[in-house]
Amino acid sequence: MLTLIVSFFSSVYATKWKEFFPQKELEYPPSFHARVISCATLEVLQVYLAWRQNACHSDNLCRTCFWMLIRSGKTIEEAKEALKDCQKEEKNELLFQRFGINYKKLPEMFRQGSCIFKTEVEVVVKYDEHGNPIKRLRRKPNIVHTQNIVAKKFWNEQLVLVKELGGFEDEIAKIKTEYVKSFLFENKLLPSTYIVIRIDGCHFHRFSDIHGFEKPNDAQALNLMNTCAVAVLKEFHDIVFAYGVSDEYSFVLRKNSQFNQRQASVYKTDNIFSSQIVSAIVSFFSTMYAMKWKEFFPQKNLKYPPSFDGRAVCYPSEEILQDYLAWRQVDCHINNQYNTCFWMLVKSGKTKAEAQQCLKGTQTQEKYELLSRQFGTDYSSLPVMFRQGSFVYRMKLQEVVVDHSNIIERSFWKEYSSILEEMPAHTSAANECTQTSVSAS
Ligand code: GTP
Ligand code: MG
Repeated sequence: MLTLIVSFFSSVYATKWKEFFPQKELEYPPSFHARVISCATLEVLQVYLAWRQNACHSDNLCRTCFWMLIRSGKTIEEAKEALKDCQKEEKNELLFQRFGINYKKLPEMFRQGSCIFKTEVEVVVKYDEHGNPIKRLRRKPNIVHTQNIVAKKFWNEQLVLVKELGGFEDEIAKIKTEYVKSFLFENKLLPSTYIVIRIDGCHFHRFSDIHGFEKPNDAQALNLMNTCAVAVLKEFHDIVFAYGVSDEYSFVLRKNSQFNQRQASVYKTDNIFSSQIVSAIVSFFSTMYAMKWKEFFPQKNLKYPPSFDGRAVCYPSEEILQDYLAWRQVDCHINNQYNTCFWMLVKSGKTKAEAQQCLKGTQTQEKYELLSRQFGTDYSSLPVMFRQGSFVYRMKLQEVVVDHSNIIERSFWKEYSSILEEMPAHTSAANECTQTSVSAS
């Protein structure tokens, strides 16, 4: 849920950008971090929401004062000094006396944040034979602004909230942020292991159908995935290798990764938390996918924002990591060989059920023969990207490249031994992305 929500949110953000900033390009993919707070009781939820809204109140008041001071000619240091130890009332006073601003008159959205919840509204679902509208109750999300989100009066008047979550019985007198924070559980990842973050397209069966991807493989769709993976390696310097096939990508973080490079703000401690790293990567990948779509499908509109799920798994040794990657590539081979046969049978006139029946219980060799005998196709002559997937790594001089090869054989890892070697601190040299194609091995 955590990764799906953050991925979908990121993807929507990128796709909606132009609607809100028609004159501005989205210069780089924004990403969001997510975490789970399990609110065990309604009271904890109430305290949590109040905490977030209080943070909004005080941050916004502070920012408003700060920027008014800057606009009036103060330097950043002077503005900070003027607001140091300043209480809420003093800030209100400063805005009023000095700038003639009544803080309470500023837009509600700035001061209070926004609540979104579904309310039941009547909508026309169809018309009867006489042209009369037939209405049904449907739930629609609404944006609401309110001074106090956990005020008994406000909350208990929202029937949907009371029905779904329950009603508040008391106003909360004192907010103890530490109490809420104690409900924040984080999954700490094992140190000194190879961390693999695997992301996978959510319902891509439907997504590829709706966007008319070529079956069984759409080269442009795969190139788009590869370009996003290259961007991830450029952004997250601790990722040393990635392997992708179909709608999935596995990102390998180097052992002993400290996450203290460009993403420093995400990783404030030596502890590596699963939700932080997974959400940062899945969010970045999703935004990139939506941003780059037009480059790869200039004739097709993105009909809805795609989303990806993500998970983190720790592998303690190089061998086990290589076994993991081999498993993904074996999967690629099995699926691709099956899909190639299946779609050739369907394109030759068989129904999907007949094609399925034809392939039931067949082994690799039989599928090779079927393709060659029935369709004159030599499976090994099909594009290597379809048969073996793609891998992304950082070459010397920090160049990030996409390549295709057999990564199951240990000889691959001998040839590319530098990939998993512990690296010295990276240089911040700008990376160049190049696509190389290497013949099948
Ligand atoms: P979840 O991952 O469980 O949400 O379901 P999913 O529908 O994404 O299925 P899954 O991840 O198991 O498999 C990926 C699916 O994406 C494939 O079954 C295809 O339907 C589709 N897909 C991925 N790449 C391509 C492609 O290049 N061409 C076409 N036509 N479909 C593709
Ligand atoms: Mg999928």
